[in-house]
Amino acid sequence: MINFSRRDFLQKGAIGAGTAFAISNSWASIFTSSDLKNSEVDIIIELTAKSQKKTSGNEFKTEYWTYEGKLVKGTRENLVSLPNSYLGPTIQVNTGDKVRVIFKNELSEKSIVHWHGLDVSHENDGHPHYAIKNGDSYQYDFVVENRAGMYWYHPHPHGRTGFQVYQGLAGLFIVRDKEEEKLQLPTGDQELNFVIQDRSFKASGELDYRPSMMGAFGDTLMINGIKKSDPIKVKKGLYRLRFLNGCNARIFNMSFTGGQFRQIGSDGGLLRTAVSIDRFYFAPAERFDCLVDFSNFEIGQKLSIDSLPLVEGRGDKYSLLEFEITDGNSVTFKKPALLSNMEQIKKTEAQNLNNPKKFELIPKRGLGWTISGRAYEDDSYVDDEIVKFGSTEIWEFYNPTGMPHPMHIHGTQFQIVKRESGQLKGCLDLGWKDVVLVMPGDRVQVIKRFNTFKGTFIYHCHNLEHEDMSMMRNFKII
Ligand code: C2O
Ligand code: CU
Ligand code: CU
Repeated sequence: MINFSRRDFLQKGAIGAGTAFAISNSWASIFTSSDLKNSEVDIIIELTAKSQKKTSGNEFKTEYWTYEGKLVKGTRENLVSLPNSYLGPTIQVNTGDKVRVIFKNELSEKSIVHWHGLDVSHENDGHPHYAIKNGDSYQYDFVVENRAGMYWYHPHPHGRTGFQVYQGLAGLFIVRDKEEEKLQLPTGDQELNFVIQDRSFKASGELDYRPSMMGAFGDTLMINGIKKSDPIKVKKGLYRLRFLNGCNARIFNMSFTGGQFRQIGSDGGLLRTAVSIDRFYFAPAERFDCLVDFSNFEIGQKLSIDSLPLVEGRGDKYSLLEFEITDGNSVTFKKPALLSNMEQIKKTEAQNLNNPKKFELIPKRGLGWTISGRAYEDDSYVDDEIVKFGSTEIWEFYNPTGMPHPMHIHGTQFQIVKRESGQLKGCLDLGWKDVVLVMPGDRVQVIKRFNTFKGTFIYHCHNLEHEDMSMMRNFKII
């Protein structure tokens, strides 16, 4: 039986039981030491987390927690701040760049930054045990190994990730590479990135964070850190639209009324070929990269990307983004047959092909949401959570509950090899992924290589309230 939250549509006033979160962090602040000199890195960014008042499109001011960026070394494109938005600056780099980020915590509590989707070492991954207190800094040094794609960054202190992200802490991390550049996809005005989030505000203007077993929802749509307002003006022609679902818990059922999505990429960059897609479930932390052709619409015409009810007939559809065609200049773009050389991992590469590791997404009394009944503990892992460096494994997530769980694994990107669906179909399974949506009743197998860094990493549900509760575990690559 599917038993969804009634709050799968925007609704004010629905409240779950409040959950008290405590920071369980026994580690002292640790600083990475790196032998690199400033001259040996390509990009240096100072990223400061602090509280700041902003309107962000509202008629009142709200105290957000924001990332403020300062470019110490690099070019203008490496760090682009978004005016009036509470989101952190967009970091844009090329594959192969050596990046240094000096994170400063000016918040009233511990925090640490995680580079979601990037393949970096344990020390650079923002593992919760590295959370630093107010006044401290943490230095990240990493080489960007990932393919071109839309990645992002957000806090990761245990028990507080949901709260801190809700307060505003998040930003995009865009990677470009030669392979993508050769395609000459639409750029400039015709390449648009959208971070979609939901927030609720109190009458006083403060953010209204209400965590529950279902997660924390909001009744106001925020697009790129600003309250959704007028339609976005577009020209006739081809656009590249990229989306991040930056919500704590809300899943969208994306549909393009009057238009069509041609998916070209997912979490970990470009697909081999473009795929037409009418609707899809879009879960927290997932990314969707597509081409949309506005050439055949009339000037003045409006189009809308909507979220349909998650379950047909339950709830209402609502509009996420509206577009208005404003002028006739069109760009010509030849759709390439092959977008990328994306490699498909063969199932037979897995050492445990006939014996996938099984993880059950279940609640446990006294803990809330868990993975196989186990809660997160610093530096604890069981046998199944130990992986040999250099191996390829299949992990299976089974969801016997009525709640969807978007499962995220740190480290390398993975691929989905098999999905036995419950009743709800239409998850994003193509390409390289770092989040896989496991709908009620679903059994999903993913294949992943553990061949880049040794050390302790985490995997968790990206419903951030589930993660904070205890739906997170370590895995160790040895
Ligand atoms: Cu975006 Cu461990 O998370
Ligand atoms: Cu991540
Ligand atoms: Cu979950």
